[in-house]
Amino acid sequence: MRGILLAGGSGSRLQPITRAVSKQLVPVYDKPMVCYPLSTLLLAGIRDVLVITTPHEQEQFVRLLGDGSSLGISITYAAQRSPDGPAQAFLLGADFVAGETVALVLGDNLLYGPGLGSRLRRFSDVDGAAVFSCRVADPTPYGVVELDDAGRPVALGEKAEPPSSCHAVPGLYFYSDDVVDHARELEPSARGELEITDLNRRYLDEGRLQVEELPRGTAWLDIGTVDAMNDASNFVRAVQQRQGIKIGAPEEVAWRMGFIDDDALRTQGEALRASGYGDYLLDLLGA
Ligand code: DAU
Repeated sequence: MRGILLAGGSGSRLQPITRAVSKQLVPVYDKPMVCYPLSTLLLAGIRDVLVITTPHEQEQFVRLLGDGSSLGISITYAAQRSPDGPAQAFLLGADFVAGETVALVLGDNLLYGPGLGSRLRRFSDVDGAAVFSCRVADPTPYGVVELDDAGRPVALGEKAEPPSSCHAVPGLYFYSDDVVDHARELEPSARGELEITDLNRRYLDEGRLQVEELPRGTAWLDIGTVDAMNDASNFVRAVQQRQGIKIGAPEEVAWRMGFIDDDALRTQGEALRASGYGDYLLDLLGA
């Protein structure tokens, strides 16, 4: 399975922070935001990642993530010239998908919870589309799914459009290779974007959309606003300080997944010692 990490957009809701830096590179506690969705893809067992950024911010992502070899994966890059919507990822990434199943993760989404990796790895051979639902107090900023009594999806909406439902759809989606053809048929929405919800609705209409409810112990954070950024930082700090483990450290996930060996983790740890992040990686080897 391939993975696309969508990290473009204008970051307008985080201005002026995002006037000079990409939203997905701003810190969420002790690491750049993009580390969290990247770790999610690694946890899903994905070793072939396309990172989509704005053209002018691509260089900064390359500086941070390189070609992925330090994580034992391949990272390539594509540029999105204007923020024409998340589903455009499949037009920009059509050659990358090349007949494989593919996961899309939005670069401002953090997922954390027990058993998440094994849950995600079940979708590597998805037939159709698979998305998650997550209960939220205020669904209006998100895509939502309406479920019947048996938990099957009956309708999808985007940002307070009908249907009304408290089940938001997080920014992590799994598709079979026909997603590129489906994306090519999409028309821009009223706000001028190729909507991921419109793409998912095609699979719903074909009876090929699976929706899995995330267990209540799973944290899903969409880091789209200054308050959400602060909440996410506080969440990461609270868990990390209390438990002495890191959330969303790609080097750790790559090592636990067997993508890199002890020596490679040691090299990473030694390079990052000054901040304490490196000591954490080195301690894993002794644990
Ligand atoms: O976070 C989950 C939600 O993400 C879903 O529930 C919604 O269905 C989905 O539409 C999306 O809503 P958002 O309002 O959060 O999308 P946003 O415009 O913030 O874009 C999400 C990320 O994708 C963000 O990091 C910027 C990036 N992006 C966005 C657009 C529109 C791009 O890289 N290119 C784009 O063209």
